[in-house]
Amino acid sequence: MNKHAQPDLTAAAIKGGVASDQRHDSAAKHVTGQAVYIDDIAEPAGTLHGCLGLSTIAHGTVKSIDLDAVRSAPGVVAVLTGHDVPGVNDISPTGRHDEPVLTTEKVEFFGQPLFAVIAETREVARRACQLAKIDYDALPFVTDIGELDAKSARMVAPPLTLRRGEAADAIASAPHRLKGRMRVGGQDHFYLEGHIALAIPGEDDDVTVHSSTQHPSEVQHMVAHALGVASHAVTVEVRRMGGGFGGKETQSNQFAAIAAIAAKKLKRPVKIRPDRDDDMIATGKRHDFLIDYEVGFDEHGTIRGVNYTYAARCGFSSDLSGPVTDRALFHCDNAYFYPAVHAQSAPLYTNTVSNTAFRGFGGPQGMMGAERVIDEIAFALGKDPLEVRKTNFYGTSDRNVTPYHQIVEDNIVHRIVAELEASCDYQRRREEIAAFNAKSRIVKRGLALTPVKFGISFTATHFNQAGALVHVYTDGSVHLNHGGTEMGQGLYVKVAQVVAEEFQIDISNVKITATTTGKVPNTSATAASSGTDLNGMAAQNAARQIKNRLCDFASEKYGLPKDQIVFLPNRVRIGNQEIPFADLVKQAYMARVQLSAAGFYKTPKIHWDRDKGEGRPFYYFAYGASCSEVSIDTLTGEYVVERTDILHETGRSLNRIIDLGQIEGGFVQGMGWLTTEELVWDEKGRLRTYAPSTYKIPLASDRPKIFNVTLADWPEAHEPTVHRSKAVGEPPFMLAMSVFHALSDAVASVGGHKVFPALDAPATPERVLMAVERVRGIARG
Ligand code: MTE
Ligand code: MOS
Repeated sequence: MNKHAQPDLTAAAIKGGVASDQRHDSAAKHVTGQAVYIDDIAEPAGTLHGCLGLSTIAHGTVKSIDLDAVRSAPGVVAVLTGHDVPGVNDISPTGRHDEPVLTTEKVEFFGQPLFAVIAETREVARRACQLAKIDYDALPFVTDIGELDAKSARMVAPPLTLRRGEAADAIASAPHRLKGRMRVGGQDHFYLEGHIALAIPGEDDDVTVHSSTQHPSEVQHMVAHALGVASHAVTVEVRRMGGGFGGKETQSNQFAAIAAIAAKKLKRPVKIRPDRDDDMIATGKRHDFLIDYEVGFDEHGTIRGVNYTYAARCGFSSDLSGPVTDRALFHCDNAYFYPAVHAQSAPLYTNTVSNTAFRGFGGPQGMMGAERVIDEIAFALGKDPLEVRKTNFYGTSDRNVTPYHQIVEDNIVHRIVAELEASCDYQRRREEIAAFNAKSRIVKRGLALTPVKFGISFTATHFNQAGALVHVYTDGSVHLNHGGTEMGQGLYVKVAQVVAEEFQIDISNVKITATTTGKVPNTSATAASSGTDLNGMAAQNAARQIKNRLCDFASEKYGLPKDQIVFLPNRVRIGNQEIPFADLVKQAYMARVQLSAAGFYKTPKIHWDRDKGEGRPFYYFAYGASCSEVSIDTLTGEYVVERTDILHETGRSLNRIIDLGQIEGGFVQGMGWLTTEELVWDEKGRLRTYAPSTYKIPLASDRPKIFNVTLADWPEAHEPTVHRSKAVGEPPFMLAMSVFHALSDAVASVGGHKVFPALDAPATPERVLMAVERVRGIARG
């Protein structure tokens, strides 16, 4: 892009407004290596490097810790322990004080940071870490939630109960009943850029921290607490992350706090960039769940009542496990109406790394429970699962209340599923696959179509606010800043489009700038898919304030009513003359008009009473559906996704190519979660899958061989979001459920669809193979 291009003063439309296919602002820089990530920032002279010393047992007390050899290693400048934290040795985001920066007496998981080595080079710091001599008194530990009682075991946060109607009675009196248990695995974030923090000390208490974080305000607060200084002394900045996916909502705190403590203590810049192994061992992941379900239904497959328990492996501290397990319950319905429902969460304490946010934030695990129930009902009745799905969709009037008593007002699941079913030729392919399976002895095919309904908003109402700062300079160029962070999802370009649209100027005139706590304060994490909804609105608000001032000024100066001042592409019509936008700005400046504004937005209509389990936690729902066809090799368990069709709702998309990327990327990441990405802890409580050699994310070649993605950009019938667009960051992740159910369908074919495969997730090739053997064995009798 030519940054110095002169705006076209006769153009019929601006370049890069809303609803235009605007390339990611950093796309070219990402692929040419010119995008500056934190490790690319030129290091200030004297920069030191840190490495964390991790515990080597899963649970115990520290008998003695001898760091002399570490300290005296050549090149080591300092060794820090929890006793060196000048403020509070805690980075718990919940205020429960259950997560030390560096643990001192007790160790609660294998890999917990105990000390930090600060050295002249990263290599020296890493080697010196190995020289620590630590003696522990080991204590019994638990890593697997299967060993725990979801009612009586220790929890890291208060469990939630949702209920509507009398579920137990409805189940007992239903014509059919079934119950079961499903395991749904966790997931490592595997962002390309791992965690990193660079802390630069300033005068007095000041410190600036460059942190790869989705939540600069929280890093700011945690660093301030750990240092024992006021928030105003700490500035946190992030231009971009090389992926966050929820893994940088809270997990950045530790690295930032330690870097800042060391920087202030040593009066030198300190950088900490853990290597991939340490990052995977010492930072939290997606929660794995054990889902117990019991359902009563009739001969059509219509659910009468359902009872769920969602138990989650949370790790040793609360972190975000409370809200994550809450969101799992909020999605135990997916797109289905339950006449009577009882759902209970169990956020269980385990001696594992503390699990955290991950795309969908518990929602995907919640939906897997609903989809399992539907699948098993279909099996019990010998029906096509799609038919049972449709039978149970939310409807109108008496079938539109969620388990948390919010009315579903914007339901489009019928239309989405009907259009997808037709466009992907579901019914004909169902028959073709049956015919193929009847002939093919070893390779079997499977097909599934699954819906998604995902609630948009933070369930903690107060997080649903955002701020922005917009400056217009006298040459007509615009500086844009807001509280949202860029992690590759395209937030920055979308918000810039909103501002360009507002001023009617080409997007090349809008400068996108790094997120920093010094410009926009008290921000929420860029999370819950709400980045554009919140920050787009706040930036629009800021731009509108300036535009109104420009309008007032022109109206007064030229003696015209305000409706005679019209912002046209790159110019302004004032009565019957047109002048460049920059000229109006210059005139306004000369007349002493303020050309800077802080914008603000808070989501309307939402409220949530957790004790009662009632409210309207979500401003709206985002919908989508996908259909996947797989083939499995019944001798090895290996599989291929032959084809996936997706229809996903974006509202009036701000940027279709960015949204398409989010849908494709989210789907593939979800596919990894449900197929090949498996976390394994051994009998010592060690995570054994902490590198790409043992942890398998999807490759480009694993994508569906045929991949048809269509945006349902239907603007009608929903809330007035920013330009009537809808959040798209997380919902597509859950479209991958169709792959999982297609695998189950393929496995079921070896037993003539008479034995329910009851697959656990992830459906690794190993699990598929074992399921094939089991189903075949039972079918043979
Ligand atoms: N896309 C990319 N490329 N990288 C990411 O880290 N994170 C996801 C999603 N899409 C992520 C991504 C998650 S977990 C969320 S909550 C949203 O983006 C956050 O951004 P948004 O609210 O601006 O959509
Ligand atoms: Mo996304 S899990 O809300 O960062």
